[in-house]
Amino acid sequence: QIKILWRGKPYFVRNRTEAEIKAAQDVDVKTLRDPQPDSARVKEGKAKWLITAANCTHLGCVPLGNQGDYGGWFCPCHGSHFDTSGRIRKGPAPANLPIPQYTFVSDTRIRITG
Ligand code: FES
Repeated sequence: QIKILWRGKPYFVRNRTEAEIKAAQDVDVKTLRDPQPDSARVKEGKAKWLITAANCTHLGCVPLGNQGDYGGWFCPCHGSHFDTSGRIRKGPAPANLPIPQYTFVSDTRIRITG
């Protein structure tokens, strides 16, 4: 997972492994506070990529990566958890980490467009 800055905003970019995708798909979306299937959050280029805005949906802190047994993100400011797909698991954040609009420029380059 890498963190990039694009036009002053931080984003997480993660090349999802098959194991991560399987783990995320095994999550019962009914247990999530902001349900969204994993397939909606992962795009296929040559690999399967997940890109999320790296601002917590509570008050905008930058979560830390690879935290906890589900390998997701943890916000150090007030303790919100997001899973490996950026879906909210625990508040006070009210929603998933948002996915920006982006396109694949090549197999290794991604352009964030909005
Ligand atoms: Fe992330 Fe408050 S800013 S939990």
